[in-house]
Parts: sequence; structure tokens; C-alpha cells
Amino acid sequence: MAETAELNLPGGQSISLPIFEGTEHEKAFDIGKLRDATGYVTLDSGYKNTGATKSAITFLDGEEGILRYRGYPIEQLAEKSSFLEVAYLLIYGKLPTETELKDFSGHITKHTLVHEDIRKIFDGFPSATHPMAILSSLTCVLTGFYPDSLNPNQSTEEIDLTIVRLLAKMSTIAAWTYKNSVGHPLNYPRNDLDYCANFLYMMFSFPTEKYEVNPVIVSALNKLLILHADHEQNCSTSTVRLVGSANASLYGSVSAGINALWGPLHGGANQEVIEMLEAIERDGGDTSKFIAKAKDKNDPFRLMGFGHRVYKNFDPRAKIIKVAADEVLKALGLQDSPLLKIAQELEQAALTDQYFIDRKLYPNVDFYSGIIYKALGIPTEMFTVMFALGRLPGWIAQWKEMRENKEPIGRPRQIYVGETERDYVGIGERA
Ligand code: ACO
Repeated sequence: MAETAELNLPGGQSISLPIFEGTEHEKAFDIGKLRDATGYVTLDSGYKNTGATKSAITFLDGEEGILRYRGYPIEQLAEKSSFLEVAYLLIYGKLPTETELKDFSGHITKHTLVHEDIRKIFDGFPSATHPMAILSSLTCVLTGFYPDSLNPNQSTEEIDLTIVRLLAKMSTIAAWTYKNSVGHPLNYPRNDLDYCANFLYMMFSFPTEKYEVNPVIVSALNKLLILHADHEQNCSTSTVRLVGSANASLYGSVSAGINALWGPLHGGANQEVIEMLEAIERDGGDTSKFIAKAKDKNDPFRLMGFGHRVYKNFDPRAKIIKVAADEVLKALGLQDSPLLKIAQELEQAALTDQYFIDRKLYPNVDFYSGIIYKALGIPTEMFTVMFALGRLPGWIAQWKEMRENKEPIGRPRQIYVGETERDYVGIGERA
């Protein structure tokens, strides 16, 4: 007989809640019938204890510092795989055969061009528009070029085409966002280059010069994108699933996810990390002063790039990125950069400080990714765009899974704490 949990409520009421156990032995009790049976709902601000879905995509154990995509350890994927192979794995649930990967990559390469009207839309954005705002707007605008994507009853083949288009066009849009922000001509994609090399070409080449793709940079970018590719039910992914649960299109759902990722407590932290390191440098480089500020409860300052909602151990992605950061900086001759020195000092100080030890605050993925992006020549405002590019396969996989599971529209309950019923008072009679 299936295990149950007994919930005893005031007034002698009680209910047996079925226990559900995942493949990695995570346990939950199912409250699906709780309100109908008892009138109670659960209250869980920030969803810290709520499993919103059953998912077969990513497993993470924050206590042990484990992250696996479809069962494969992140360490192995970062070392041996490519970003598009990982994208295929996340979206379709298995590692592709050679032919499947060739077809998938070939399709993506074929769809990297975006409609010429997208170029015109760039002209309408105010010059101060943040790249994440442009990325989210233009991702949503793809619905205008592919209106069939709005049909919630698209066939599997049609959905696959939408997926390929999104993966292909987002890299072009992301690179153009940067080029447009600095007033450079926009580069068309090159089909002879692989995904990462083509992205770097679109970002950094000029029509006036021959662009040499640096293999160290391509490899670092590949690794970074793999490490960001999925992270189960984080804020932006939950947003994508929630928006998608209303039968919104993939483009619209991902566009909403981009906005969630932009927040400084989520993906926006990578930009904030570099800004923080630069602020420390401008201030004279005394890291202890900033550690003290982070510990001061009367000071809103937080050490950006430290702490994580689920990792109460070293973020496994941060471990890999840290090594990659050392390699990239060395290969580019930037190992003596003052920002790197500040980052290392901050990391050491925080790892040995009781405040951070007690709260299990370790450096997270954003702490090092910003350092690599900076070394690669990617401007700070584009860091979160890079994160979005990496997270895209995860968002797509989660949206697809949500639809395939035929999940109902997401609609949390609340506990109302406002005024109880009262009569309308005419404007002249109000105190
Ligand atoms: N610096 C200083 N203190 C911190 C930090 C930090 N970066 N992070 C958490 N704390 C402290 C809190 O003040 C709190 O202390 P208290 O218990 O004495 O009140 C305790 O640690 C727990 O913090 P919470 O905010 O309750 O933890 P939560 O799980 O809600 O937040 C979060 C996690 C948002 C990531 C938080 O650690 C943070 O703000 N970090 C900085 C921003 C950042 O790097 N975000 C990127 C996360 S990774 C990602 O999204 C890809």
C-alpha cells in the first residue's frame, strides 16, 4: 500500500495525504485534494517548500552540490559535450546520435537569419534601453513573424520548428542587441561556423577587418552556456512554465522568462557582480570593508554572486567555471587583472568568515561567469543576455514538458488579509 502522511487539523479533522517519491528519493506529500476535502490551503511564501511539478529534466541536490541534466552529471557534460548537444539532450531527453546532432545543428544554422524588419525595430528603441528589454521584446515579437506559433494545438513537427527557430534566432538577436547598442553595423550570421563561433563572430567582427575566432574563447563560451542550460524550477523557468500553462506561445513564454531572469536576485546578478568588483576597485580595493557592509543588517548591501536559494554547499557550476576562468584569463594574458585579484580576495574572505559559513553562503555561478564574460570582451550590460542564451534550451525543455504532461493552468491561491466587507462612501463624506 502506498505511504501516506496524516494531517491533523483543528476540530478533530484529519486527512491522509498520498506520499510521492521521485527517482532520486525526494519525497513530497500530495495536497491536490486538500482544499476540497478540508477547506485548507497551504501557505508557502517564495515556494520554498513547494514542488510545483514533477519533472524529468534536471536533478539538483543543493545540500550535496549535485547537478545533472537528464541524469548526466554537469561535470561530464561541461568537459565532453557541446552546447547544442546539451540543448538536444534537455529538449528531447536523450543524447543525440551523430546523425540526429548533425540534423539538429544543421537546422539551427539554417534558421539563424532573422526577418529584415527586425533590423528596423532596433531603430525604435530608446538608446538607453537595456539589452534584456530588447531581447525580451524581440523574442516576443517573433510571434508576429511566425503567427502559427500562437496556435496552442500545434503539431509536434510545428513545435519542433518553433524550437529550432527560437534557438537559432535568439543568438542573432542577442548579438545584434550589442552591435546596435554601440552603433556598429549588424553582422549577418555565418553558416560555416558552429553555434558559439558564429555568435562570437556576430558580436565582435567588423566588415572592415578579418575576424579570427579564438578557440580558447569558443571553448569557454561553450562551457558557460552548458553550465547555464537548465536549473530546474528557478524563478525564470517557473515563469516560463506558468505563462506557458495559459497556452501562451513558446516565444511569449520565453520572453516572460527573460524578464524574470533580468532581476538582480536572479540572472541579473552576474552584471551586479562585476559592478560590485569595479566599485570595490574604485574605492581603493579594501575587500574587508565590503564584507563588513554585507554582514551589517542595517546596510542593504549584499555580496553579489554569493548565496543561493537551493545550494547550501558549493555551487557545482561555480567550481567548473572557476577553473575555466583561470584558464581563460591565463590564455588571454589577463591573470594579473585587478578585478580578478579583488574577486579572489573576496572569495577567500567570505569562505573563512563565520557569517558566511553559518548561513552556507558560497560563491554561485554568477560570481565567476561575469569575470569570464568581461575577459572575453563582452560588455557588462550584456552579461544577463549571455545567461539567457545559455538558459534557453532549459526554458524550451520545461515549456515542452509542461505541455506534454498536459499540466493545468498555474493559478496559486492566497490568504486574503485585507479589509472585510464595508460600504462605499461618497467622495464628499470621506474623512
Ligand atoms: N550577502 C550577504 N548576506 C546574504 C547574502 C549575500 N549575498 N545572501 C544571503 N544572505 C544572508 C541574508 O541576509 C540572511 O541572513 P539572516 O538569516 O541573518 O537574515 C541569510 O543569508 C539567508 O538569506 P535569504 O535572503 O533568506 O536567502 P534566499 O534563499 O531567500 O536568497 C539569494 C538567495 C537571493 C540568491 C541571496 O543569497 C542573494 O540575494 N544573493 C545575492 C544575489 C545573487 O548572487 N543572486 C544570484 C543567485 S544565482 C542565480 O540566480 C543564477
